[in-house]
Amino acid sequence: MEAAEFIRLGGLVAFPTETVYGLGADIFNERAVAKVFAAKGRPADNPLIAHISDKDQIELLAEEFTDAAARLIDAFFPGPLTVVLRKQATVPAVASAGLDTIGIRMPSDFVARKFLAACGTPVVAPSANLSGCPSPTSFRAVFEDLNGRIDCMLRGNDAEIGLESTVIDCSAERAVILRPGAISIEMVRKILPDAEFADPAKLEIARSPGMKYRHYAPRAAVKIVVKGEIVPDAENAGYIGCGIPSQNFRLRAQCKSADDYAARLFEFFRECDRRGIRTIYCESVAPEGIGRALLDRLRRAAGITDA
Ligand code: TXA
Ligand code: MG
Repeated sequence: MEAAEFIRLGGLVAFPTETVYGLGADIFNERAVAKVFAAKGRPADNPLIAHISDKDQIELLAEEFTDAAARLIDAFFPGPLTVVLRKQATVPAVASAGLDTIGIRMPSDFVARKFLAACGTPVVAPSANLSGCPSPTSFRAVFEDLNGRIDCMLRGNDAEIGLESTVIDCSAERAVILRPGAISIEMVRKILPDAEFADPAKLEIARSPGMKYRHYAPRAAVKIVVKGEIVPDAENAGYIGCGIPSQNFRLRAQCKSADDYAARLFEFFRECDRRGIRTIYCESVAPEGIGRALLDRLRRAAGITDA
């Protein structure tokens, strides 16, 4: 695959995954990794996730394989899960933002797997958006953010899941969920009954620096509402949710389920921005399954922090 040649040459390649599109570079090429931060305008203290095509590559990245990690990997790789482990000294500090750990993920998306296998090396890949913008779930979104800033863009289908992977720190004794995603805490607890969410009050800035940044936000103001809530100026606003609102909105996404809502959210944010819509009303969802991840992204986009 030609795109893999750009990776071998130290270039940057955007590629689809089942969660969101990623922006890839060879993890062992420090200059290439530094270019990822520059292309996105990403703060240097926010670590990157290493993407693999084969479980054998884990030993190139992780110094020790904890029991919790082994069980999660057995259950959920390939898929929308990132496992954080103590890193090998050979993994450049620029990739892990100076932390002694590295996040590892094996995507299930067909194009991603083919691309990563052709690269023959683990590939760091943050979401392929400009820092601060919603993660890209369509090729169009990647193009809008990064055209002219990177070497190659692989076109795939719209992301099936639409929210970034679940990130679980397995470097210590107890597994801690740093970022909720499609692999829900209910699913994780079937494998590791004592898994917990990181305490947001002290979200361990050092453990997941990314969580301190305002993320996933469109230019429009995001407001979380309950089903049926009457809002001002609906005719100029956007609305996304599973319910049918009683008002007429300028743009509306009617979602069939929480999964469908998750898959459509970031592209809806972008579409509202393209149309100059200034306020987006987002219907709240039950905090279970993917609903937790969805609420997490909605709260971040709305500027609500738990800490
Ligand atoms: O679904 C995904 O994970 C996508 C696709 C492309 O695979 N990637 C992604 O990467 O969302 P990014 O860089 O946008 O988000 C990575 C998150 C950040 O919140 C970061 O702080 C956290 O994972 N993270 C990465 N490495 C970490 C580490 N060693 N320790 C703690 N948190 C880490
Ligand atoms: Mg991101």
